[in-house]
Amino acid sequence: MNALADFDVNATEHGIVVRDRRFGRDQGPAHRWAGGDPIATAWFTALSATFPRGEALFVDAVKAFRDGAPPRLEAEIRAFIKQEVNHSREHLAFNRAAASAGYDLTAIDKWVEGMIGKVRSRPPMVWLAVTIALEHFTAMFAHEFLQHPQHFAGSDGEQAEMWRWHAVEELEHKGVAYDTWLHATSGWSRWKRWKLKTLLMLIISRRFVTHRFQQASWLLAQDGIKGWRAKARLTWYLVGKPGILRRIFPAWCAYFLPGFHPWDRDDRALIGKYDSDYAAANL
Ligand SMILES: [Fe+2]
Ligand SMILES: [Fe+2]
Repeated sequence: MNALADFDVNATEHGIVVRDRRFGRDQGPAHRWAGGDPIATAWFTALSATFPRGEALFVDAVKAFRDGAPPRLEAEIRAFIKQEVNHSREHLAFNRAAASAGYDLTAIDKWVEGMIGKVRSRPPMVWLAVTIALEHFTAMFAHEFLQHPQHFAGSDGEQAEMWRWHAVEELEHKGVAYDTWLHATSGWSRWKRWKLKTLLMLIISRRFVTHRFQQASWLLAQDGIKGWRAKARLTWYLVGKPGILRRIFPAWCAYFLPGFHPWDRDDRALIGKYDSDYAAANL
């Protein structure tokens, strides 16, 4: 089966619903909003600080290849863009409120701006290869958060809801950038496609982990947790308990398999559960 046929099959199976929701406008994240845990709070707040600029890159990457896409993929790209724009709006609000709660995110934002600027100086195909790698990261985290709700146990209600909402839409559109990539590279050999996406995934994974670790450490230092103690606690959080990075490792490896597609793991049950829980809570 050629690449284009692959994406046609995948694209027909997963609808994308844009859930235009707002969270925490009355009360944003408090200090140590993640269940009072400074480590989880620093990790998630550091992640949130990267989203608005990161998601703007993802949007521009898929837009660059929208023309000439089959109608279904084009429609999915439009829905993807709407979802990402809403996510960025909510994370901007979250980030502003986190700043009010005492977390200075300006250094992280400046760093992200520089990094995204470097990506944007390369051809759009590189933007897209970066996007599919980072969308795989968001999909792996999203699966983990929805599968194991204890990640946000004890967190402020609105904040936990915001992360769950973002997670479910990430799962829902996890194939769109990848299908756009298959479409954009349909004239390439499988080897050439695999080589570029693998190379960029390896570079991005190293940077993603080391830079998020460093940036979460900056936030911990602002919270009075510094030095080896901060590093040890953050490392344990990521690879020990709950061990987010340890737990996503098998899904990360799957990215390198020949013929990989994000929907090789069927997440429809998690999406359905989120929607039925939401409907039940808002009767
Ligand atoms: Fe998003
Ligand atoms: Fe996304």
